[in-house]
Amino acid sequence: MKTLYSKEQIAKRIKELGVEIEKKIPLGDTPLICVCVLRGAAMFFVDLVRELKRDVKWDFLSLSSYGSGQVSSGKIEVVDGLRNSVGGCDVLVIDDIVDSGHTVEYLRDLFVQQKAKNVYIACMLDKPKGRKVDGIKADFVGFELEGLPFVGGYGMDVDGLKRNVPEIFVV
Ligand code: IMP
Ligand code: MG
Repeated sequence: MKTLYSKEQIAKRIKELGVEIEKKIPLGDTPLICVCVLRGAAMFFVDLVRELKRDVKWDFLSLSSYGSGQVSSGKIEVVDGLRNSVGGCDVLVIDDIVDSGHTVEYLRDLFVQQKAKNVYIACMLDKPKGRKVDGIKADFVGFELEGLPFVGGYGMDVDGLKRNVPEIFVV
């Protein structure tokens, strides 16, 4: 385990992301719906929404993606959906990592289908080298990873463990 981003680095970056989000997402007629993609984004989600200065609604969804181990297959399903209806609302999807881009593509399409006004994506980490879907980009990125390291901590698991580690480390 080698630390990639310390608690302090993460906290500082999230404060900056909060400012970026407040600047770039205009205030709408309805509250911004912040969507936590369970389970890896939980820590990032609670830290990030605390930096937002406006009224928001928060909501959670759980996905299953079929694949073996660390390989994502692109076949994604919602196993537990939102309580809020997103029609006519701005949505901020908050996820831990964008890798292949399948998850973000799926959620963006889903919320567009459900007539969200705008769909914004925030992720703690981006792995642009892992991209398998063209044109997928998060609007707000904590840190961009250079290669394709497998990381854990700060909500992200290594074989079901280490989610509680407060820093991000390379496995
Ligand atoms: P994708 O963009 O659909 O390939 O999926 C990204 C999802 O894969 C993330 O939300 C994570 O849950 C998971 N993931 C990708 N890389 C890592 C990693 O290095 N550590 C932990 N989870 C990862
Ligand atoms: Mg995830």
